[in-house]
Amino acid sequence: MTHSCGTSNGLRGIVEMPGDKSISHRALMIASLARGRSVIRGLSLAAAPISTINCLRSLGVQIVENNGETIVQGKGLFGFAPPTSNLDAGNSATSMRLLAGILAGQRFEVTLVGDDSLQRRPMERVAIPLRLMGAEIALTESGTAPMSIRGGRKLTGIEYSLPVPSAQVKSAILFAGLGAEGESTVREKVQSRDHTERMLGLETRREGSFFCTSIRRGNEPVAKEFHIPGDVSSATFFIVAALITRNSELTIRNVGVNPTRTEFIDVLRKVGASIEIQNQRTIAGEAVADLSIRSSELHGDISLEGDSIPRLVDEIPILAVAAMFTRGTFTVRNAKELRLKESDRATALVRNLRTLGNEVEEYEDGFAFQSRKMNIGCEIDSFGDHRIAMAFGIAGLAIGGVRIRDAECVSISFPEYWEVLKRLSN
Ligand code: S3P
Repeated sequence: MTHSCGTSNGLRGIVEMPGDKSISHRALMIASLARGRSVIRGLSLAAAPISTINCLRSLGVQIVENNGETIVQGKGLFGFAPPTSNLDAGNSATSMRLLAGILAGQRFEVTLVGDDSLQRRPMERVAIPLRLMGAEIALTESGTAPMSIRGGRKLTGIEYSLPVPSAQVKSAILFAGLGAEGESTVREKVQSRDHTERMLGLETRREGSFFCTSIRRGNEPVAKEFHIPGDVSSATFFIVAALITRNSELTIRNVGVNPTRTEFIDVLRKVGASIEIQNQRTIAGEAVADLSIRSSELHGDISLEGDSIPRLVDEIPILAVAAMFTRGTFTVRNAKELRLKESDRATALVRNLRTLGNEVEEYEDGFAFQSRKMNIGCEIDSFGDHRIAMAFGIAGLAIGGVRIRDAECVSISFPEYWEVLKRLSN
């Protein structure tokens, strides 16, 4: 479907985001690894967490939706049933990589598959540490899924320094470590999102320049109530929409503001964004707040590089769109990871920014541009990537006449995105 973006005279009102996608995946998996009944409140029912639900159901876990609550009958660390067919992770790398950690030490063989986009994404990064723990994992020659996990192998704890900071790889090792002999330790140079650690009650310590987390066998999670805060990565689109359109006054309630996820707020404030964090509290170990955003004259240069990249990599598409309204330059470097997401986001951003009239320079590890003019009435390719579609949908609100191809891909993280945006726009 092609979505025509109507222009907006400002976003007004109070809104809540769907449950955080990263935390939703983890709540489903941790509830399944616990023995007995857990209740999840605020779970995201977008396509990505539904992929996790489908895989867990194929492993014999009972998951039922009941009046906005999700009830999970957990099986314990080694209580899963062998699936009768391949596990399909759909478009979701979080499902595939985290489940690989859970399945690496099970007694049965299993194969994880995904859609075309997911089957192009690198899986060696998770297979390498899991093999070091003793797992037998086969991938295609290019290191992609289908991923076959042999099963029946006893895992042993490892100490592993992540070559590239990644919450997915870190979480896979921690999940495998739950059932591995001895202690498993993951080290990373930049702390990626730490939801798994918080949910498993693990401490992160500093060792020199590294952030380190260890887990011991037998730390079986306990069945409990999970509370999922609103997704801050989904909130960024509405934040930028409110900033760049006139007369906006928007409140986004109950958003997760875990410090490993909010660096984009500092970036936007530096170019003049009015974003207030109010009513901050802690719910189930995660910081939650209400965000209040007003239209702002954005001005100045944005430069994203080095350690900040892993902490805002999902927000680069919408930050690039925000930069079209700063009259400054926008530079992203050290961001090769951008090319390995749901699409090659560097190429997707460069092409679409050019379509909108920007002169963009592309690098192997990023891109740079200075916004000069904006083409009204053009067609944007989403590349089937939810964050690309959502980001350029916001550009469309301010520019006019923009059409987004394959706009239905927003269902990966936010199926009601276009309706909510329309409802809040004047
Ligand atoms: C995620 C981790 C990040 C992020 C992805 C979700 C997670 O990926 O880009 O959207 O839930 O753990 P990496 O682990 O590859 O950095």
